[in-house]
Amino acid sequence: MNPSNDGTKARRVAAMFSRISRRYDFMNTVMTAGRHDRWRRLAARAATEGLAPGLALDVATGTGCLALELARHPEARDVVGVDFVPEMLSLARAKETRHRPTPDVAWALGDALALPFADGAFMCATSGFALRNVSDVRRALGEMARVVRPGGRVAVLEITPLERSGLAARALSLYFRRVVPMLGQWLAGDRDAYTYLPDSVRGFPTCPELARLMEEVGLVKVRWRLLGGGLVALHVGEVR
Ligand SMILES: C[S@@+](CC[C@H](N)C(=O)[O-])C[C@H]1O[C@@H](n2cnc3c(N)ncnc32)[C@H](O)[C@@H]1O
Repeated sequence: MNPSNDGTKARRVAAMFSRISRRYDFMNTVMTAGRHDRWRRLAARAATEGLAPGLALDVATGTGCLALELARHPEARDVVGVDFVPEMLSLARAKETRHRPTPDVAWALGDALALPFADGAFMCATSGFALRNVSDVRRALGEMARVVRPGGRVAVLEITPLERSGLAARALSLYFRRVVPMLGQWLAGDRDAYTYLPDSVRGFPTCPELARLMEEVGLVKVRWRLLGGGLVALHVGEVR
């Protein structure tokens, strides 16, 4: 496997998720006060609702939460979750066993920047909290658009960089910069990984910028909605 065109970042990211894999779901629950599952549910619905049945893809699926949400929708005949960290996929596989009955989910080792799938193979492609971690967001979006059939959807759930000023924004920024690394240290034994999190959000495109990137890779009718009081955004676009 070729992890990415920026080997350094890809290797660092892969090593970090391999290290924190066992605490990943627990940390998400603590950091979001349990709201992260609802956001994935909304993303899965936005990606699938009303489409003709077909295969659904979750890119950088991690421990598989969003892939398993996709599998609950009747439009998703079968689901594929792809990630480049085997430890995350092992946890996804174990979780799928606990979630039965759901349609089968296939777990595939692969790079978001070079998806190992044919053009137009899927009715939709999602990514949850993943694009911050890739070295080339545009290329990852291009790959998602490439593997979705015409009329299908690409849905991206991601933490938003703070654009607003004011007390709430300052409190959120403080939470990310000070509290999250501390929680990472105490609960996951990995301060670095949870210091990286706010850094990766800071460098990520704003909502309008991300929408523009989606349009640049050929997606149309791109729209987004803010969730969690503006902490998270769900972008959806359609393949022409
Ligand atoms: C923050 S986790 C998100 C996991 C999951 N999507 C969720 O909703 O919780 C980021 C995931 O992206 C994966 N990842 C990062 N870069 C990747 C790449 N280039 N190709 C495939 N997976 C990648 C990591 O291994 C990790 O599992």
